[in-house]
Amino acid sequence: MLDLQTSLAQPHVTRRADYTPPDWQVPEIALDFALDPAATRVTATLHVQRGDAHRRPLRLDGAGQTLLSVKVDGVAVNDWTLEGETLVVPLSGSAHVIETSVEIAPERNTQLMGLYASGGILCTQCEAEGFRRITYFPDRPDVLSRYHVRMSADKARYPVLLANGDPIASGELEGGRHWAEWRDPFPKPCYLFALVAGDLAVNRGSFVTMSGREVALGIWVRAADIERTHHALDALKTSMAWDERVYGREYDLDVFNIVAVDDFNFGAMENKGLNVFNSRYILADPDTATDYDYDAIAAVVAHEYFHNWSGNRVTCRDWFQLSLKEGFTVYRDQAFSADQGSAAVKRIEDVRGLRASQFPEDAGPLAHPIRPDEYQEISNFYTATIYNKGAEIIGMLATILGREKFRAGTDLYFDRFDGTAATCEDFVASLEDASGIDLTQFRRWYGQAGTPRVTASLHHTEGSGRAELVLAQRTPPTPGQEHKLPLVLPLRIKLFGAETAQTVAPEQTILLTDAEERIVFEGVTERPVLSINRGFSAPAILETDRTPADLAFLGAHDDDPFARYEALQQLMLDTLVAAAGNNRADTAAVIAAVAGTLADATLDPAFIAEAVLLPSESFIGDQMAVVDPDAIFRTREALRREIGRTLERDWRAAYDASQATGSHYVYSPEAKGLRRLKSVALGYIAASGASDAAALAFAQFEAADNMTDRQSALTTLVAGDSAERIAALDIFYNRYSDNALVLDKWFSVQAMAPRDDTGAVVAELLRHRAFTLANPNRARALIGAFGVNQRAFNAVDGSGYRFLADQLIALDRINPQTAAKLIAPLGRWQRYDATRGSLMRAELTRIVKTPGLSKDMFEQASKSLD
Ligand code: PHE
Ligand code: ZN
Repeated sequence: MLDLQTSLAQPHVTRRADYTPPDWQVPEIALDFALDPAATRVTATLHVQRGDAHRRPLRLDGAGQTLLSVKVDGVAVNDWTLEGETLVVPLSGSAHVIETSVEIAPERNTQLMGLYASGGILCTQCEAEGFRRITYFPDRPDVLSRYHVRMSADKARYPVLLANGDPIASGELEGGRHWAEWRDPFPKPCYLFALVAGDLAVNRGSFVTMSGREVALGIWVRAADIERTHHALDALKTSMAWDERVYGREYDLDVFNIVAVDDFNFGAMENKGLNVFNSRYILADPDTATDYDYDAIAAVVAHEYFHNWSGNRVTCRDWFQLSLKEGFTVYRDQAFSADQGSAAVKRIEDVRGLRASQFPEDAGPLAHPIRPDEYQEISNFYTATIYNKGAEIIGMLATILGREKFRAGTDLYFDRFDGTAATCEDFVASLEDASGIDLTQFRRWYGQAGTPRVTASLHHTEGSGRAELVLAQRTPPTPGQEHKLPLVLPLRIKLFGAETAQTVAPEQTILLTDAEERIVFEGVTERPVLSINRGFSAPAILETDRTPADLAFLGAHDDDPFARYEALQQLMLDTLVAAAGNNRADTAAVIAAVAGTLADATLDPAFIAEAVLLPSESFIGDQMAVVDPDAIFRTREALRREIGRTLERDWRAAYDASQATGSHYVYSPEAKGLRRLKSVALGYIAASGASDAAALAFAQFEAADNMTDRQSALTTLVAGDSAERIAALDIFYNRYSDNALVLDKWFSVQAMAPRDDTGAVVAELLRHRAFTLANPNRARALIGAFGVNQRAFNAVDGSGYRFLADQLIALDRINPQTAAKLIAPLGRWQRYDATRGSLMRAELTRIVKTPGLSKDMFEQASKSLD
């Protein structure tokens, strides 16, 4: 941690342009761990090789450990120095063997980077720069080594000892200890190193690869959780088959293990052959996990598995290339999930996620390109931009190349760079070489931040047979990037006839490359309606001259499900933005569109459920020049009430029709869709103000045989003021008080509640005996969820801002990485009125001035003030 003076004076900035290849390579490393939660001894033997002809010493990164000894070629030396925490060892020859011995204290490691303890399990997290907390090493992704790991531990406390690669030997020791050795034949960067020791049970499976090799699969959890691992194991097998079929990628080791731990900074980690997961992305059964959780588990299991090729076999040259593995792997996991159920609904969910987290990031003080140019703390760059915008950019490449050429490109990329540390440029060049398509201008996406705005206006003169589409693009300035260049935007476009609803111009993909372009359509014999950015083919904000009637038309007739959803959303959004701005808004069109969607028997219930939901409060705010959280809340609730009331009979019919008739919980796309529609219908029935709504919700809550129905009933009850609200919260708490993941839901349902007293409730929950900042999931469940509750967080007295800042400061002392990720809501100050803006700035300033602030938090808070 830096003190304030140091950080204010000169935060160290790492720049992409400064990249130089490593001075020393480490082709082999042997690690020996004498594991103990209070004092673990790590002995590392590094076979080092000098790079080109240079005379520089060996420099090994370190952090937070106690150095016990250094040997060079077997002889203890003392001519080493420590520069800060970097161990500098002068070496004369071109190849040496360096042995260091250090001591670390996993049980005192609260930042959850390096070797730490989670509920009695010892585990590691090394990405991005955690390995240096375990041993001295050149902690950068372009140093690839073969690992040989030996560990010993108390056998009673840690009966299971796991590491990367294949197990090679194990045995007993005196004093109740035992040991195990693992070897990973694939050279890897140290961020992919992992070790786990604990009292774990395993759910075993097996997978036969396309070339006929049998892989032993294992999901390791606490014994009590073993029955909750079946879904994850199924998802793993499905992912392995999918990557063979869709990308031709086969698994390469004899074992693949996954371990679930309760304390984890992110979702999961793709360590070679030994993925470590946040338990929320492994554990599921119908009673404790929602459909959403089941989906997320399959997606994260797939994501980490897919990294075996996009990330591990081909890794990143430096951390500026992070999106090379993350954007591509998110793109792959999204396609995988789309293949498991409704692709349309998956696309809607992904775009909603992008708009909720990435668009605001791109429009705010922390905006950065998917390949950033500089950072102070790399942990701060595991962002929605790197991940989700990164995935959209890969998706555009796939659209531009077409399926076959895209696959040829990824084949070439994997082939060319297997076993190496590559760059984003290497990826694009592979696609270019394999397809023959020039991607020169497309490369701008990698360096330019900000969400492009595209305006589209369609002109048609009756009787002319001609229509002209005028497209223009503009990307607003972002911090440090005043002037933007035109991007390549693949826009899938189609024209429908307004009277006949027939196709008047078939779908085509237009590549918008200039600031402005005109496209002429011939043979347009009736007034055309524009369907544009179908499938969300480009991550842009579209502004069109379509009328409410056009949007309603598309909402009823568009044959691209995403475009159909989008038209309805736009119609709702326009209505709500007008109403929040105190303009009279005509709600009739919205209500008619919702009614029509609900009544359309050709539609999938899962799609209907998404399409009839109003846009979120934050997304409405994003459309306004100055966000007015109270007006947005009021108008949105009023529209919800009106839709609820006017269509009450239809909601009740939809609710009844979606009741799973007598059968028990099934996780299938059809059953999921019905549960989703049922929950949306329940929400509208409650919004209508119907007198029996609370009783209906409570009955669902009590009768539910699954968490999806139970949580949706609870959410509905918590939004209202019935006696059933308190009862349900108590029942829920008591029933699940021993299940941390379900208690997280209990906290976040309350933190996200659309209630006047949410701020006070959250402050109270902070003192609840089940609350702790030390567990990242729990911290996110309360503090993270409150931060995205637009109205409660933005209480005009500034209490929400103060609350968040207090918690960030407290959490920063425990776990800077997790704390720094929760700051985004305070950085939106430019989007609010002057009163709120200055209250937010005051809290950011207070954070920046906090003595002993981490470098993670300093970077985020200080940049948020700019
Ligand atoms: N690389 C992980 C993933 O996205 C994320 C992660 C980053 C996990 C840093 C832990 C620490 O799959
Ligand atoms: Zn990833």
